[in-house]
Order: sequence, then C-alpha cells, then structure tokens
Amino acid sequence: MNVLITGGAGYIGSHTSLEFLQAGYNVTVIDNLCNSKQESLIRVQEICGKDITFYQNDLLDSAALDKIFKQNSFDAVIHFAGLKAVGESVEKPLLYYNNNLTGTLNLLECMQRHNVKKIVFSSSATVYGNPLKVPITEELSTQPTNPYGRTKLMIEDILKDLYISDPDWDIALLRYFNPIGAHHSGKIGEDPNGIPNNLLPYIAQVAVGKLPHLNIFGNDYPTIDGTGVRDYIHVVDLAKGHLKALEKLLTSPGVVTYNLGTGKGYSVIEIIEAFQQASGIEIPYKFTHRRAGDAAEIYADPTLANTDLKWTAQKDVLTMCKDTWNWQSHNPQGY
Ligand code: NAD
Ligand code: UFG
Repeated sequence: MNVLITGGAGYIGSHTSLEFLQAGYNVTVIDNLCNSKQESLIRVQEICGKDITFYQNDLLDSAALDKIFKQNSFDAVIHFAGLKAVGESVEKPLLYYNNNLTGTLNLLECMQRHNVKKIVFSSSATVYGNPLKVPITEELSTQPTNPYGRTKLMIEDILKDLYISDPDWDIALLRYFNPIGAHHSGKIGEDPNGIPNNLLPYIAQVAVGKLPHLNIFGNDYPTIDGTGVRDYIHVVDLAKGHLKALEKLLTSPGVVTYNLGTGKGYSVIEIIEAFQQASGIEIPYKFTHRRAGDAAEIYADPTLANTDLKWTAQKDVLTMCKDTWNWQSHNPQGY
C-alpha cells in the first residue's frame, strides 16, 4: 500500500513515516523543509533499513504536486504539512491562512483529480480553545482562540463539506493533545528552530545548558499546584494512532474525528519532576506571569479512539521524558 505523507520530515511526520515503513507500507514524503531537515528522513531510513521516496516541494506549488501524483499511485494521504506556532500565527495571520489553507486546498484538489480519497488530517486540541469542561470529548464545542487554531478548524470544516459533496471520501480528523518524547533509538526527535515555544523542548535545552532556566508561565491557576495542566502524549504512541486511523479509513467510515491523548493531565511542576528523575539533571526555574491565551487545564477523553480504533496510548510520562532526554543529550544541536 502506497502512502503519501506531507510534512513527513517534521517532528510527528518523521516518527509516523517510521511506523508506516515498519508496518510494511511504501512511504513517499513531500516537505518543503521550512521547519525541518532532510536528515530526519535519512535517520528514519537508517533505523528501519527501508527507503522513503522524498520530494522537496511546497504544497503551495500545485503544478509540482500534480506531477508527483502522476508519477506515483497513492492509496492514501497522511497530511501533516502546516505551520504550527501559535504566537507567530497571531503576528502573521496571512502567512498561516495562506500556507495551511491554500496548501490543504491544493492537496485536496490534486487528490480529487487523481481519485485518491482517503486522508488522515493533523488537527489539534487547540480547536477546543479554552475548554468549558475536562476531560474533553469530541462533541465539546470548538472555539479556537488564535489564527493557527482557526486554520485547523477551517480545514476540518472543508473536509466535512468535501465528504458531503462526495461520500466516496474517507476522512480522519485527529485532534492531538501535547506530543512530546522521541523514538527510543535517540536518532530522531523534536528539533525546533530558535528558542522553543513548547515546554519539553525548552526543558531539554535547559538540561543541555543551552538555556539558563525555565520560565513557568503562571502559578496561580486553579490546578493541583497552580501551574498549567496538559495531556502529554508520547510521539510514538501518536504515530501509531495514524496507522490505526488509516486502517479505520479502509473500512469506509466517512468522516471520523478522534482525540489522541492519554486522558491524564500533568502540571508543569510534575513534568519538571519527571524530567529531573529521567535525566538526573536539576532544572532551574522561575515563576513568571501567565502566557496570553493559555488555559488552566486541558486533557482528553480518548475513549472514542480507544474503542473505535482499538488504540490506547501506552507510554508513561517518565518514558516520555527519558526518550526526550536520550534524543536531546545525543543531539544537543538537533539534526
Ligand atoms: P513540524 O513543523 O515539525 O512539521 C510540519 C512539517 O510540514 C515541517 O517539516 C515543514 O517543513 C512542513 N511544511 C510546512 N508547510 C509546508 C508546505 N506549505 N509545503 C510542504 N511542507 C510544509 O510540526 P509537527 O509538530 O510535526 O506537527 C505536524 C502537524 O501536526 C502540523 O500540522 C501541526 O499543526 C499538527 N499538530 C502539532 C502539534 C504539536 O504540538 N507538535 C499539536 C497538534 C497538532
Ligand atoms: N509552559 C511554561 N513555560 C514554557 C513553555 C510552556 O510554563 O516555556 C507551560 C504552558 O503555560 C502550559 C504548558 O507548559 O501550561 C504546556 O505548554 P506548551 O507550549 O508546551 O503547549 P500548549 O498546550 O500551550 O500548546 C501545544 C501546542 C499547540 C497545540 C496544543 C494542543 O503549542 O499548538 O499543544 O495540542 F494546539
């Protein structure tokens, strides 16, 4: 079976490409490398001893996309390619709307032209915005609070409209919670550009001495210790969720939406403690003001994915931190 993975050189895409190769799929990746390096794919191939067909192309280039679809015969698409930094999306909304929406529209038009009608889309828990209750089920109202989140919700709506127009499509909308960790080999992992926005890459860079201390954004939230609570999920568990989602699409379910999370929330302080235990390194931190737009507590109810996909996140927070540290300590400068 031939799978096209857009954004496959990125953090989640590289781990997912590996899982698909190991499960026996043929993998083709399209990535413009705007937030990744081809080295990630070289290492994926080293880990599993299988080849990836790689095209360095932009989804905004529909002629190039069409050529790739003519040269290959894809059975399904896993669509990761997109920009994902919340703060940057507030500063540069047009960049985000253009890249994420136009890129996806080009991809879908191309898929339609070539009669490829199965797609797994990387959505996000960010579509729920500041949730009215936790744990979050898929039916909870969606109200994203920033342009990035709105691109995710708009793409979900585009895909639902596409299905209404043509029920031959099968579409999985996967709403990820907070992916962290790395493959246990330590060869692939998260390699953000510049100073990380997200908690784990920041902690990991403090641990290797690239950053002096962690700023904790708020200690006055109504949570167990006053710091923000999130549902951290191991990136390999998340990658395996895509295999299960594609298997589901092969049963022609139409449009399906799943939360991919563990169902458990951890505070920033609890994560620091787990990381310290995993690495044996003390993480200095300072409390600072809340970050604009942050919610107190976000965690999934993953029951639907557990039952429908027969998928459950397996790896605990200590393993996530150990694998993050294994990757970061062996690759202090990233790829
Ligand atoms: P990433 O930045 O590591 O990967 C995205 C990849 O897409 C990068 O390799 C980038 O070069 C590529 N890309 C971006 N725009 C492109 C374009 N126009 N054409 C071709 N390639 C393009 O991010 P990630 O963390 O692996 O996230 C993958 C997907 O999952 C994204 O859609 C993201 O919004 C979504 N997501 C991520 C998180 C998270 O916390 N990491 C949470 C929820 C959802
Ligand atoms: N935090 C800090 N200091 C930091 C970074 C984060 O205290 O330097 C705190 C945040 O306030 C929050 C928690 O750590 O309480 C997690 O923050 P992240 O930035 O790692 O993750 P978010 O939950 O804010 O958002 C991430 C992605 C979004 C995605 C969301 C859900 O950035 O794009 O997970 O999937 F939508």
